[in-house]
Amino acid sequence: MQPSRRVHPAENVSLPTTVAASNLEMHYRVGPETVRAVDGVSLEIPEGQFVVVRGRSGSGKTTLLHLLAGLEQPTAGEVHVGGVALHALRPREADLFRRRHVGLIFQFFNLIPSLTVEMNVALPLLLDGRRLHELGDRIGELLDVLGVSHRRRHSPHQLSGGEMQRVAIARALIVSPRILLADEPTGNLDSKNAHDVFHLLRAQGRERNVTMVVLTHDPDASAYADRVIEMQDGRVIKDTTRGIGAGEQRHVS
Ligand SMILES: Nc1ncnc2c1ncn2[C@@H]1O[C@H](COP(=O)(O)OP(=O)(O)OP(=O)(O)O)[C@@H](O)[C@H]1O
Ligand SMILES: [Mg+2]
Repeated sequence: MQPSRRVHPAENVSLPTTVAASNLEMHYRVGPETVRAVDGVSLEIPEGQFVVVRGRSGSGKTTLLHLLAGLEQPTAGEVHVGGVALHALRPREADLFRRRHVGLIFQFFNLIPSLTVEMNVALPLLLDGRRLHELGDRIGELLDVLGVSHRRRHSPHQLSGGEMQRVAIARALIVSPRILLADEPTGNLDSKNAHDVFHLLRAQGRERNVTMVVLTHDPDASAYADRVIEMQDGRVIKDTTRGIGAGEQRHVS
């Protein structure tokens, strides 16, 4: 694993975008039981790789993604993103780091009900001190690509599930992230829309060398990925790299 350096999260530096997890553990105490949601995951994701993570419900995908995003502190192990030791940041620092460097798409959208679609999309930049009127063109462009520009001034509760999902994708892309972490980004879309979203993510990824980790149940998603990781009981049980070196497969016991 590459050595970490101390980057102030407010720094607007251009970081490398490798994502690395080392011996990652996340345990939850539920009454007398301990749930090992993530149970010893080590991964290195090089810059620009598009990784799809699959696995049954409850296999630990969302928990792993939250750890990679620095949304939660692991029980044990380390997360390094762009050489920054994310597991060691204070929550406020982790927030700033994410806002500057990471696009996040959540399983349940996390749109803010009191804001319009365009405000929701602009939010990461508004929090960074930008003004809505400066961002109009970029918002319009993203909403257009995602087919929801006619909903620009609507509230989230006036949207369908698929529309909310596409707004959440636009919000993740507005910061032009070079790291994109997505939890079921197409879970509420029909297969045509899902195909379009994966196509868009892949195109954005290729164009800007974005490192992407996408959790999905969609069997078609693997066709877009450079690498497919399969989880079971909090562990990586299969890790397959496609494309260059296609067919190379590593089984993890
Ligand atoms: N806060 C929590 N407290 C206790 N257990 C939790 C908590 N969060 C997750 N878990 C447990 O950890 C395991 C992994 O959950 P996780 O949400 O990561 O699964 P997942 O693979 O994303 O599932 P899905 O495909 O249904 O989204 C599950 O057994 C879940 O019940
Ligand atoms: Mg999940």
